[in-house]
Amino acid sequence: MRIAIMGAMVEEIEPILTKLDPTLAPESELSQIIAHMQHIKLHTIAGNHYFEAKYKGHEVFIAYSKIGKVFASLTASVLIEHFKVQKLLFSGVAGAINEDLHIGDLIAAKRLCQHDLDITAFGHPYGYVPEGKVYIESDATLRFLAQEVAKERGIELKEGTIATGDQFIADPKKKEWIRKTFQADAIEMEGAAVAVVCDAYDIPFFILRSISDAADMDASFDFDEFLKSSSKISADFIIALLDKI
Ligand code: ADE
Repeated sequence: MRIAIMGAMVEEIEPILTKLDPTLAPESELSQIIAHMQHIKLHTIAGNHYFEAKYKGHEVFIAYSKIGKVFASLTASVLIEHFKVQKLLFSGVAGAINEDLHIGDLIAAKRLCQHDLDITAFGHPYGYVPEGKVYIESDATLRFLAQEVAKERGIELKEGTIATGDQFIADPKKKEWIRKTFQADAIEMEGAAVAVVCDAYDIPFFILRSISDAADMDASFDFDEFLKSSSKISADFIIALLDKI
């Protein structure tokens, strides 16, 4: 099967690349990965790198989109249209909205919405545009397989609503507004864009995030500190999920 693994930032996909090419040293810089990879092929399209690898009979296409909904939509579209992927897995970090989520915890999106999409001036709900939907559900089979992985590892995998927008949220008032308006559990900047693209193409997708911060006053401080460790937690889980597909 042809499977995409996407992240937004290079830190989010580095642990996947170093796992898929064991000749690479863990925690390598991108330039080192590109210079030394032996089992991964590089493609560059529209300013983004796409890494092609083989894993247990699958052809895997790994990419980081860069931050935000526009870059995420571009990358997901290229993965589907050009690389013909049949499933898309997203790995990365998120800010916690639900108080039960702590740094390093995993959350799988059951559904995703765009918290910054606003044509309420025309009487529509937040997050809605005509011919669109406020919430897009991720693939139930991939979520089921992910719960099997969680059980085997003896960890809890929460499922919930992920809200996406082109803003890094570091403000308790904004966080509370997003929680109330969308019943959101976590917040990030790409998931719903990927969901819109996959839904339009009818490609099953799974969005996994490990918590890096609490989307409050300390968020940017926490983010810098926990980006790498939380990215690795999410990436390790995604590799285990790949084993089940
Ligand atoms: N990704 C990780 N933390 C985030 C936050 N606080 N806001 C938006 N995206 C994030």
